[in-house]
This record gives sequence, C-alpha cells and structure tokens, in this order.
Amino acid sequence: MPKIRLGVNIDHVATVRNARGENYPDPLRAALQAEKCGAESVTIHLREDRRHINELDLKRIITKLRIPLNLEIAATKEMLKIALKRKPPFICIVPEKREEVTTEGGIDVKRSHNVLGPIINELKKNNIRVSLFVDSSIDQIKLAKELGSDIIEIHAGEFCRKVHDRLDFQKELNTIKEAASFAESIGLETHVGHGVTFDSIVELSKINEVRKFNIGQFIIREALFLGLEATIK
Ligand code: PXP
Repeated sequence: MPKIRLGVNIDHVATVRNARGENYPDPLRAALQAEKCGAESVTIHLREDRRHINELDLKRIITKLRIPLNLEIAATKEMLKIALKRKPPFICIVPEKREEVTTEGGIDVKRSHNVLGPIINELKKNNIRVSLFVDSSIDQIKLAKELGSDIIEIHAGEFCRKVHDRLDFQKELNTIKEAASFAESIGLETHVGHGVTFDSIVELSKINEVRKFNIGQFIIREALFLGLEATIK
C-alpha cells in the first residue's frame, strides 16, 4: 500500500500573528518546521480578504520551502494571476465566501464549470497540478475529471464533526469511501481534508485510495500543548 502523506496547513499561525498586527509568529518558521518534521507538503490558503496568509507570506514560503507548496485559492482572476506569478507545484481550488468562518463545503463544480475550466487549463499549461476541493459526490468528481483536474480533495468536515460529537458517522464514512474509490477508478488522486483530528483520522486512514491528508487547525491547536514537532510527528 502506498504511504499516506501529510500536508500541514499553517494558516492559523498567520491568524495568531495577525491578532497582534506584528510579524510574529512567522508562518515561514512553521512551514520550515513542518518540513523538518517529515510533512510531505505545506498548505496555505490565500483568501481574498487576506484574513490570515498574505502575499508576502506566499513569496517568502515558496522561496525557502524545499517540500512542495500547495496553495489554496478561490476561482478568481486575481488569484489566478497570483498563482501564475508564484507557480507553486500544487493548487487546490476552493469555494470562498467572505462571511464564512472557514471553508464550509466543497466547490460546486457543476455551477462553476465555466469559470473553473479556463482557470484549470491555464494552471495546467504552467505545469501546476490542480486539485478541486469537493464534497463526496460522484457527480462532482466526474465533472472534476472532465475539467482536467489531477486530484480531488474530499471535504471531510461533516464526518469529522460527527466523530468529534460521538454521533453515528457510518453514512458519511461510506460516502467518503465510495467517492475515493470512484475517483481512483477514473484516474484521480484522492486527498482528504477539513476538520481532521487524531480521532477522525483513525477511520479515514483505513481508506486505501486516500493518498494524502491536509490538516491545519487541529495541528496548530494541538501544538499549543504538545509542540508543533511532536504533533506533526
Ligand atoms: N483542505 C482544504 C481544502 C481547506 O480549505 C482546509 C481549511 O482551510 C483544510 C484542508 C484544513 O482544514 P482544517 O484546518 O480543519 O484541518
């Protein structure tokens, strides 16, 4: 079985930094620490409102990081321009609403078809591997493939919430399993993210088709007690 990889999302180091309006803690330091501790990649989400990561973070991190950077962006012209300027090896396209606290669900590939197509083409022309953050829906995954996506990242938020609240999660787990298996059958690599914790990863990591987990908030909050290195390891 291929090894499961870990992508560490460091957005919330920037959230803490921005709370003071100073330049510490430095997300670059966290990115380099993640690299040292064996993370396969680092993820940052450059939001339209720049509530955590900003363009200077992107520039500094991409310059210094030796493991791949996965940049999450909304499907907008502004973000495409930034992505093409910095050319990270991976881009994950996510839905974005100004008023949301965090990414609430997968992108509606059907609805955003006309916007996504040209953006994915442009990124791929520049040798960037593209991922779409989707709900575990077979129809959405089919469309992601048709649009030329290389990877899907499955939104595991609802499953993880049920694990956390000790509710029956079997339905959500089965849907994720079916989605991952379908994605692999049509040649898409599967990643999983959103809300993943030490508890929720127990079942998720048994899904053979899942190649990578992108984990952010849990790692940063656990790092307060265990340290970043111990949590990542
Ligand atoms: N993957 C994607 C596409 C996301 O948008 C997020 C949240 O920014 C994550 C993974 C990480 O989620 P969490 O911070 O809950 O681990």
